[in-house]
Amino acid sequence: VDGAGLYKTRCAKCHRDGSESSNAGGGVVLKGQSADEIEMKLNGYVDGSYGGKKKALMSRMVAKLSAEEIKALAAHIGSL
Ligand code: HEM
Repeated sequence: VDGAGLYKTRCAKCHRDGSESSNAGGGVVLKGQSADEIEMKLNGYVDGSYGGKKKALMSRMVAKLSAEEIKALAAHIGSL
């Protein structure tokens, strides 16, 4: 699975290159977080155990991702 490609097509619209805190991206900066941390958060959005005010939006973003795609995205973000 191509984590960088997935990121570009499904996440960059809001999170840009991961280094900015944008409004669309919920004001969070992804760069600097480890792959483990990101994977935990993405899985938390899947099962509803993680998130802030806009968790419903991120839950929709991850709902259709496979476990493999989540791992690949987390590895990519962890390498930014
Ligand atoms: C939060 C990743 C797509 C908007 C987050 C967080 C992660 C993440 C890891 C939590 C960051 C933290 O709390 O430290 C991703 C990935 C995406 C994706 C991997 C692609 C599959 C999008 C898109 C949008 C978006 C397309 C806008 C339409 C947001 C918002 C938050 C957020 C608003 C804050 C949600 C909250 O209140 O918990 N994202 N994101 N994300 N993302 Fe995304």
